[in-house]
Amino acid sequence: MDILGHVKEVAATPFYRRRPMASLRYSYAKWKFLLNRIYTPGEFLEGLGVSAQVALSGYARWRPLLEDVVRSVKEKQGHQGGVSIEDGMVLFGIVRAMQPEYVIETGVAAGVSNSFINAALLENGHGTLYSIELPPAQSGAGRHEDGGVFAWPNTGVGWAVPPEIRNAIGDRNILILEDVRKALPKLLETLPQVDIFFHDDLHTPDHMLWEYELVWPHLRTSGVLLSDDSNFSWIQFCRDRQVKDGHYRNMQRLTAVLKP
Ligand SMILES: C[S@@+](CC[C@H](N)C(=O)[O-])C[C@H]1O[C@@H](n2cnc3c(N)ncnc32)[C@H](O)[C@@H]1O
Repeated sequence: MDILGHVKEVAATPFYRRRPMASLRYSYAKWKFLLNRIYTPGEFLEGLGVSAQVALSGYARWRPLLEDVVRSVKEKQGHQGGVSIEDGMVLFGIVRAMQPEYVIETGVAAGVSNSFINAALLENGHGTLYSIELPPAQSGAGRHEDGGVFAWPNTGVGWAVPPEIRNAIGDRNILILEDVRKALPKLLETLPQVDIFFHDDLHTPDHMLWEYELVWPHLRTSGVLLSDDSNFSWIQFCRDRQVKDGHYRNMQRLTAVLKP
């Protein structure tokens, strides 16, 4: 574990700076995630009980476009919390394998995860993605509680989503520009079920736990709950809900469980 990098991260995160116990729990969780890290999307998908071959069918067609998305966000705006190519492949694969009708992502930013999920929905030929993001003025108003600072408000939400994907997906991707704390409870009441939920908005543990707990009853049996930048709230959630096997298995702290 990069101890110096971790200390710098905690020092730059308002939530942890004010909470020494929480920052200790965070350090422990990161160490556990490091010990249980999986390095390839195929292995991660198989660990969830999903055939990687089925899940990644059709990926080769989208690969150049999606790799360009990741590259262009890095070049133009820096890291910006966008998912990596490997994490994006997991998102793509789960959407292909589960053939969902209702997918939710929280945290759109430049649109990296959005591009991978929408590409898979296009490949499936059905299903809708609901994407929740803060209004630009709120996201761009300075450092967030989890330490995030975002440049996308200058260029527009989802600016990196290629026109080929944006135009083809059309109204099968519904963007909700509202604080997730208000938007998500309302959205969940309108959907018959959730097939896949991907958390990638505010990464403070109390907020993440709130989100996992809120979504879980709406997730269909065999639906998938995914979280990026997981911390001890994920471990606690898996323990409380007695979810088997998902506590520590991760790829770059992307975690996922299937609802039994
Ligand atoms: C890590 S970035 C998302 C990256 C994106 N998933 C991608 O792969 O490109 C986190 C995003 O969550 C948004 N966010 C933070 N707090 C939020 C909230 N309370 N409601 C909705 N979105 C929020 C931020 O504005 C930011 O754009």
